[in-house]
Amino acid sequence: MEKKTFYITTPIYYPSDNLHIGHSYCTVATDTMARYKRMAGYDVMFLTGTDEHGLKIEQKAKEKGVTPQQFVDEIVIGIKDLWKTMNISNDRFIRTTDDYHIESVKKIFKELYEKGDIYKGSYKGKYCTPCESFWTESQLVDGKCPDCGRPVQDAEEEAYFFRLSKYADKILKLYEENPEFLTPVSRVNEMKAFINQGLEDLCVSRTSFTWGIPVEFDPKHVVYVWVDALTNYITALGYGNDKYNDYDKFWPADVHFVGKEIVRFHAVIWPAILMALDLPLPKKVFGHGWLLIDGGKMSKSKGNVVDPVTLCSRYGVDAIRYFLLREFPFGTDGSFTNEALITRINSDLANDIGNLVSRTTAMVIKYFGGTLPTDRCADNDLDADIINMANELPQRYSEQMEKFAFQNALMEIFKLISRANKYIDETAPWVLIKDESNKPRLASVMYNLLECIRICGILLKPFMPDTAEKILDMIGATGDEREWENRDFGGLSKTPTVTKGENLFPRIDMEKELQELAKQKEEKIQTNNTTKADVDPLCETIKLDTFEKTDLRVCKVVDCTPVPKAKKLLLLKLDDGMGGRQIVSSIAKYYKPEDLIGKKIIIIANLAPAKFCGVESQGMLLAGDVGTEGECKVIFVDDAVECGTRIH
Ligand code: MSP
Repeated sequence: MEKKTFYITTPIYYPSDNLHIGHSYCTVATDTMARYKRMAGYDVMFLTGTDEHGLKIEQKAKEKGVTPQQFVDEIVIGIKDLWKTMNISNDRFIRTTDDYHIESVKKIFKELYEKGDIYKGSYKGKYCTPCESFWTESQLVDGKCPDCGRPVQDAEEEAYFFRLSKYADKILKLYEENPEFLTPVSRVNEMKAFINQGLEDLCVSRTSFTWGIPVEFDPKHVVYVWVDALTNYITALGYGNDKYNDYDKFWPADVHFVGKEIVRFHAVIWPAILMALDLPLPKKVFGHGWLLIDGGKMSKSKGNVVDPVTLCSRYGVDAIRYFLLREFPFGTDGSFTNEALITRINSDLANDIGNLVSRTTAMVIKYFGGTLPTDRCADNDLDADIINMANELPQRYSEQMEKFAFQNALMEIFKLISRANKYIDETAPWVLIKDESNKPRLASVMYNLLECIRICGILLKPFMPDTAEKILDMIGATGDEREWENRDFGGLSKTPTVTKGENLFPRIDMEKELQELAKQKEEKIQTNNTTKADVDPLCETIKLDTFEKTDLRVCKVVDCTPVPKAKKLLLLKLDDGMGGRQIVSSIAKYYKPEDLIGKKIIIIANLAPAKFCGVESQGMLLAGDVGTEGECKVIFVDDAVECGTRIH
């Protein structure tokens, strides 16, 4: 029989900078869901990728002096490495600069144009560059971008428009008829309000920059980055290209996981595009909450960005994966703090599950040399209670997983873990061992504990893949005993051989750890202040012949006087080895004339002359700004270098 399919996606991330823990959050959730569905027997397609076009990337590349393609290539390597580090099991990774995607987007745009759902017009509006979003006046909040709160610019250009307004009623109907389409329900209310305030046609092309997919029939336009990006969900399956042949198998997607601020694109614009293309709609869009720091957004400028790579190397990938999905309900915002992370690691991972596994395996080794004997006694009420709970767990867990309620699913697992820890105290194996005749009873107790651990181990696989395998190794589960199909109590061999594994989650000393983290943060701030953070980005790369056009010469300052009526300016008379010249420099705030007279400096000698406050300047001296105030420091040259010497 053919397996049922499950298609799940993350948003495709902007490779404008390294990703932070907020981005990892959605990817870890998606990965967990994909792993769960695979485990439950589905044929899964898990797609993630990068959204690489647009003005912001073009600008960032320019600042760095590289091409946009070079810029994104480097960041994408880091993103792929991050997903490897975080044990992300995506089946496919799409880049919007991939040829096959570009080919499909061109076709989709053309098809929409030919159908009349895209038309040519002229755009006047407000544009938010960081968000790549156009807004109408009425959508602005206090005159600023409603998404990020930053200033917007007036923009007008000839552009293509998508008839989004035509789909307003159909989308409202979609929400009415299909309440499952968008969850949590609060997001539906937000979208309804958004549509009801009036849905205007959407500007879907740009002429103000070139880093995008050209409109095939009018190449001075590039396709709006959101149209380019949203279509990734079908182009990655082979829609409109020959690269893949999975569209019929996997579309419509079972769920798009997206952050709350981009629900609008996924639950309004994306369905409208699909309706226009006469394609089926995704079955569900889930708008998850944000990880906040100190109640606000993580941002580089605030210096509060949490780096997932650092966290994983310090606490282990599985601890971070667990924390992200256990600490915050998936649908709402949550506050990330180091204290919360360490508390979770200590209480749930070290104390509850770590202890249960190490105590149980240690007892089986101590009392039975590692392998349980066949001799057992019948279960009593205490056993029936825990066995019942273990048997009910997979169903309870699945109900939560199907709702993407990861936090609840984990809580269900940990209820059994707590119950099992309590069962150890209730059965008191250290008392039973004192009497040889209790050995069958002791073996039953141990088996019951191992079974609870085994079932939890299986259920934890999607959340903590490596840890779950280690746990199953330690309790001696082999072959099919480790699989979802054998999640019922009793699946473990009657005579398992356990091993003493590593300490799964060593306890962390909260106070020391917080001090260490604070110290590291301080060191980082200091390093950043004095080195990289404030360094201007490199200019555009030039060839040597461009540099050689700049004639740099060593000169001696023979006289220096203030320029009358110009507080900032000094007039420097120079011996340039060629008969002398004068330059004007705005360094009066930093140097007195006597500081300069007799010193040797470097000037750009072939700079076109210019007048400052009526005084001609025949060149410009070299200087650099230092410190937070940008104090100017002239570059002085060793006196041994003769006047007129060319610098190269
Ligand atoms: N490129 C678009 C998505 C296009 S999908 C067709 C984009 N990229 S993004 O890199 O800015 O954001 C990607 C996702 O990361 C979004 O879903 C966003 O909500 C999520 N997150 C970014 N910061 C976040 C947190 N602090 N917390 C949780 N998720 C957050 O938008």
